Amino acid sequence: MNLHTRKEIFDILTTPSSNRQELYSRADAVRKENMGDEIPLRGIIEFTNICSNDCIYCGIRASNSKVARYKITDEEILEVARKMPKWQQWTVVLQSGEADSKAENLRIGNLIERIKKETGLAVTLSVGNRSKDVFAFWRNCGADRYLMRFETSDKELFEKIHPDCTLKERLECLDNLREAGYQVGSGFMIGIPGETIETLADNINLCSTYDLDMIGIGPFIPHEETPLAGQKNIYDDDKDMFFAAVSALRIFNPLAHIPATTAFDAVFPNTGRDLALQRGANVFMANNTPEKYRDAYLIYPNKPFVDETGDEYANALINHMKELGRSVATGYAHSKKCY
Ligand code: 5AD
Repeated sequence: MNLHTRKEIFDILTTPSSNRQELYSRADAVRKENMGDEIPLRGIIEFTNICSNDCIYCGIRASNSKVARYKITDEEILEVARKMPKWQQWTVVLQSGEADSKAENLRIGNLIERIKKETGLAVTLSVGNRSKDVFAFWRNCGADRYLMRFETSDKELFEKIHPDCTLKERLECLDNLREAGYQVGSGFMIGIPGETIETLADNINLCSTYDLDMIGIGPFIPHEETPLAGQKNIYDDDKDMFFAAVSALRIFNPLAHIPATTAFDAVFPNTGRDLALQRGANVFMANNTPEKYRDAYLIYPNKPFVDETGDEYANALINHMKELGRSVATGYAHSKKCY
């Protein structure tokens, strides 16, 4: 742990609210200088909400029997993936609950091969912990990137909120992914009860230590059907801390892809993701899950899920990015970090 950096991050996070605009502008300038104005779009398909874990914050945890479990077929997934280049989306993110079985792992491998062959899209997986062998298998099938948040760098807190996993295991997965040759993404939630500003500074610092290619962070939002029902985000009275975290993250990780995550829009309807893009973030994730499954993938409440797919939305999104003074990649174009 670099204590010097930790103190610097802490000082940035505790910038008085009257100086936050200055912090945001500084982060925006770092983003522009290192990542440019082009926003890479990613299209997420939440292909199944079946999950064997019981993370105490997550709406699709195994114990939530109110969730209607679904599994999208390969054909349905491919149908969406084939349309993505038309929407200027060059990466498909396959996300799901965590359900480790031989049959499902093989199916995912086969799906990756088909997507690569039929569309040429970059494939990002976000399906949870697996063995080294399974990571290597999917990489051989053609997967390019993997997203797996560490959620919190506080060991005790990690274990309290994840009955099925330790922080050590999670971090080992990140090492194994790197070793298997993936571009690795991770990140954390902001403001889960039990966290402090020191934890938040450590979380940002841990991201730098891992030299991540992508870092996704978003506010914790309490879900009624979880053990954290009724709890508040610890920054409930100072929600701008979520943006201060994005800005600090950008300043300490100038070359990382930082998505404007959906949870920002859940907290600040219609503006959260735009503001994140103006305060350090550079990537936008469009939700490409077919509409009929959307409300069964509520990992937190108020997740915006209307009209985020199809030709009309895609065009509106591209125009909207122009309104923000940015552009959208028109091909498999590349930032300085080459993807
Ligand atoms: N609030 C905010 N983010 C959440 N996630 C899961 N549950 C919640 C919640 N209640 C985030 C986790 C996970 C990602 C897919 O969604 O960080 O890694």
